[in-house]
Amino acid sequence: MRKPLIAGNWKMNGSLALLETMKQALTSANIASGVDVAIIPPFTLLMSAKGVLAESSLSLGAQTLHPESSGAYTGEISADMLTECGVSHVLVGHSERRTLFGEDDQAVLARIRAALDAGLTPILCIGETLEEREADRVETVVLGQVKTVIDDLSAEQRSRLVMAYEPVWAIGTGRTATPEQAQQVHAMIRAWLSDKDPALGEGMRLLYGGSMKADNAAELLSQPDIDGGLIGGASLKPDDFIAICHAAG
Ligand code: PGA
Repeated sequence: MRKPLIAGNWKMNGSLALLETMKQALTSANIASGVDVAIIPPFTLLMSAKGVLAESSLSLGAQTLHPESSGAYTGEISADMLTECGVSHVLVGHSERRTLFGEDDQAVLARIRAALDAGLTPILCIGETLEEREADRVETVVLGQVKTVIDDLSAEQRSRLVMAYEPVWAIGTGRTATPEQAQQVHAMIRAWLSDKDPALGEGMRLLYGGSMKADNAAELLSQPDIDGGLIGGASLKPDDFIAICHAAG
């Protein structure tokens, strides 16, 4: 049985005050113990978040990392620096990193390896653009992104990954994939993974991301191959984020 994970990606938003409010709200919300919840704030809040979240069951994530462990990389953050901040999860290959910051599949793979080497749980983000969907290329694009990473890892490393299917056209647009559209892609990814290794397909947590909100979360999360959500906009509003966590429980 896969344990659902609800992860809130704050992107370049939020403040120390929001972090404290969110922690209070989540801890008094009695989220089912069968649901994992992670907060993924900007880098500047991570060290404070380590203290704020310390006595809670909430996990802390980062939004990206640099593949090298140290060196002359002005402005970058390494996996070891993240672990020092109490981080356990890290997003890799979010579509905003791929499109705005030029991270290609090889750059994504290098970051996945760095995260795994440091004992972090990478959340590998994959998904097609609207243009690719309209050209009937969903399978080629999404499985291509999955394959680049999976084929390069050992069975033990693969088992420590989480994946998030985020159709680029649904991110921040208010346009959510229908539960059927999302389920179809999730099932396709799981079938590909199972073909490689049945235990890998069975165990992989596949999150959906892209305008998941309080009012559509239950239907998306009830799909058999959707094991949680990667939430952007709605993760900044405590009531909405809590409603999504409840929908997963
Ligand atoms: P959204 O973002 O929920 O605001 O669409 C999701 C994401 O980018 O992870």
